[in-house]
Amino acid sequence: MARKKIALIGGGQIGGILALIGTQKELGDIVVLDIPEVEGMVKGKALDIMELRPHDGYDANITGTSDYKDIEGSDVVVITAGVPRKPGMTRDDLLEINLKIITNVANNVKKYAPNAFVIVVSNPLDAIVYSFYKVSGFPKNRVVGMAGALDSGRFRAFIAMETGLSAQDVSCVVLGGHGPTMVPLSRLATVGGVPIDKLLSTEKIEAIEKRTREAGTEIVKLLGNGSAFFSPAASIMEMVEAYLKDKKRVIPSAALCEGEYGIDGYFIGVPCVIGADGIEKVLEIDLTEDEKAALANTADHVKEVVAETGL
Ligand code: APR
Repeated sequence: MARKKIALIGGGQIGGILALIGTQKELGDIVVLDIPEVEGMVKGKALDIMELRPHDGYDANITGTSDYKDIEGSDVVVITAGVPRKPGMTRDDLLEINLKIITNVANNVKKYAPNAFVIVVSNPLDAIVYSFYKVSGFPKNRVVGMAGALDSGRFRAFIAMETGLSAQDVSCVVLGGHGPTMVPLSRLATVGGVPIDKLLSTEKIEAIEKRTREAGTEIVKLLGNGSAFFSPAASIMEMVEAYLKDKKRVIPSAALCEGEYGIDGYFIGVPCVIGADGIEKVLEIDLTEDEKAALANTADHVKEVVAETGL
């Protein structure tokens, strides 16, 4: 059986780490595409990873390119093309420039990889994934935004850090847009099945929720130049793997809602089943009145940013 083909559109910070993790997981051959101005950079990263393979014996091929022909027939396309935040910027400040970029990328992906499962990462996520969907005309099960996996991962990490327990045993979900209005559902968070209110005080839980909502900004401030890339790459690879291995993972992701959670026609973070058909299902949770209000608030914000795309 031929290897699967994974195209990474954007070979910057996240794209580079993705190429590395994808190789280490041997999920398929990887093509990293970037603009002609930095073709050498992606070719160099790809070659460096090719030369890393003997140490642990990975057998995938990685190439760098600026020619869309090279992504032809890809099974998965991950889009990180765009600009990241600088300190003081919100994700929404990136809309104008990243909208132009996603339009160009969507037209090329449609042409060269029309059957791919597409994971959009560029910010402002909820509006950029919507734009990809509109421009490409792809079916909704094959277009998704990566945000919830990362936001929930951060929530899990903070619960693990506060309780001193393994991050692996923390289970939780963050709903909503990828920004300060996101909704971490503490009520449903557990460590190995134990509700977190048995392990942490209300004050601590509220502080963790706040830190989760601002986690991306915390890293932007610390880095001073650019945004997080290790944990986003790991979050993306979980989704790629769920699709390629038909794992039926339940991963919070920005999926097109058509009535679920009372949202219609927008991509927003909701628990999704990811398997061989892409986004196979959106799972619904019975929310409390407060949670419903918080979700309505984040949905309103997403709608405002989407309206600015004019699509
Ligand atoms: N086509 C392909 N690649 C592009 C294009 C384009 N039209 N325009 C820009 N790029 C490339 C850049 O050249 C750069 O190499 O996208 C890459 C982005 O990489 P970084 O600047 O390192 O950004 P990164 O940290 O990887 O984040 C990418 O994900 O989390 C979001 O907000 C973040 O929108 C940003 C994206």
